[in-house]
Amino acid sequence: MSEPAFLRFPDNFIWGIATSAYQIEGAWNEDGRGLSIWDAFCHTPGKIHEGETGDVAVDHYHRWAEDVRLIADLGPKAYRFSTAWPRILPEGAGAVNPAGLDFYDRLVDALLTHGITPYVTLYHWDLPQTLQDRGGWANRDTAQHFAEYARVVCERLGDRVTHWITHNEPAVAAVAGHFTGEHAPGLQDPFAALKAAHHLLLSHGLAVEALRASARRPLRIGITLNLYPVHPASDSEADRQAAVRFDGNLNRMFLDPILRGRYPDDMLAQLGPLFPQIPAGDLTRIATPLDFLGVNYYSRAVVRHDPNFPIVEASGIHPEGNEYSGMWEIYPPGMYELLTRIWNEYKPSLDILVTENGICVPDGLDFDGRVRDDRRVRYLRDHIAQVHRAIADGVPVQGYFVWTLMDNFEWAHGYGMRFGLAYVDFKTLARTLKDSGRWYAQVIRENGVRRAESGE
Ligand code: FCB
Repeated sequence: MSEPAFLRFPDNFIWGIATSAYQIEGAWNEDGRGLSIWDAFCHTPGKIHEGETGDVAVDHYHRWAEDVRLIADLGPKAYRFSTAWPRILPEGAGAVNPAGLDFYDRLVDALLTHGITPYVTLYHWDLPQTLQDRGGWANRDTAQHFAEYARVVCERLGDRVTHWITHNEPAVAAVAGHFTGEHAPGLQDPFAALKAAHHLLLSHGLAVEALRASARRPLRIGITLNLYPVHPASDSEADRQAAVRFDGNLNRMFLDPILRGRYPDDMLAQLGPLFPQIPAGDLTRIATPLDFLGVNYYSRAVVRHDPNFPIVEASGIHPEGNEYSGMWEIYPPGMYELLTRIWNEYKPSLDILVTENGICVPDGLDFDGRVRDDRRVRYLRDHIAQVHRAIADGVPVQGYFVWTLMDNFEWAHGYGMRFGLAYVDFKTLARTLKDSGRWYAQVIRENGVRRAESGE
């Protein structure tokens, strides 16, 4: 029997679009916003491509109404954005900045007016600098402050916002922020990285409790992890072992505590004295039952053993003959592999949502004002097809969010990487829907994708 040409999704499938505060808002020092570790990091010479910053970003703080219209034109059921902790609690703890809460309040109302469900992420990497000055995520107190921040946001928005994500990619916050130093706060300290990882997870558990306690209606709460199918670069024993360690460090170190209430034994043995003492009760908190797991998938990791870098191991191996984007290998089957692996190995009693998937390509406006980003269309289509395949095989994937609404500040890459469904002219800040945006709007309308033509 030939495969159907159109892949239809379940009726209530949630088509969404995702963004994050620091990458789009700008207005870094307006209306009482405090400093974040990303402000400090970007203002440190040599940290970001071309010395760029999120000071203005794409000015979403001022253009939010136009952006909500843009989202509404695309027609998603859900929009995932993050609240900026330092906009709401400028010192991280203590005094609340009403203007910060007002901003998100307006945004939520505008989304709801268009029938779009807000998915609020509480932490997408912008820790208040004052908390960093007191040790940041390496300091256990930060977890408690995070729970308090979650409570403050939920007290204001929880009458209308039902979907909450505590953290975005705690592994990246821990590893890139504290071990490799490519992200804020830019540390290169394995002890701090492991403490940060544990405190991020603990803060997740505490925030779930705080959200449930302050909720005025039933909430759906989850966490978003960056997860990778991990493949050894060769059949050698050393590479295969390295792949197991890589998987342990980046996937299982987060999946196991959240879904099983314990750290993986092989990781505890390997990390040994680097690992912090874990007070009793932490892991029960971390494993507090959730409603959904958010999965961010972009690419697989191909791992070669590197004796000089044994903790994280070398990924970033680029097999020849494969296709690449501005940042990563394009590997659609990894989406299926990852979703089915989580489902089969962990058997979690929760929903799964793909909370990010997307691609950066060097898009530009053609002379007629159109952005013909066929590669993005192909990438999204091929990955959505793999989500469909996972659902057909029994994985309860409830939704899929494209990263991202519009080109923006891509962390250490500055404005050099474009991921948007809308093109942003970084001088005028004008937004122009790309071909991929029109295409995604059609996917949403039709609730499915057309499979690739053979030979494409
Ligand atoms: C993810 C981040 C997101 C964006 C994409 C490209 O790791 O969550 O903010 O930078 O990568």
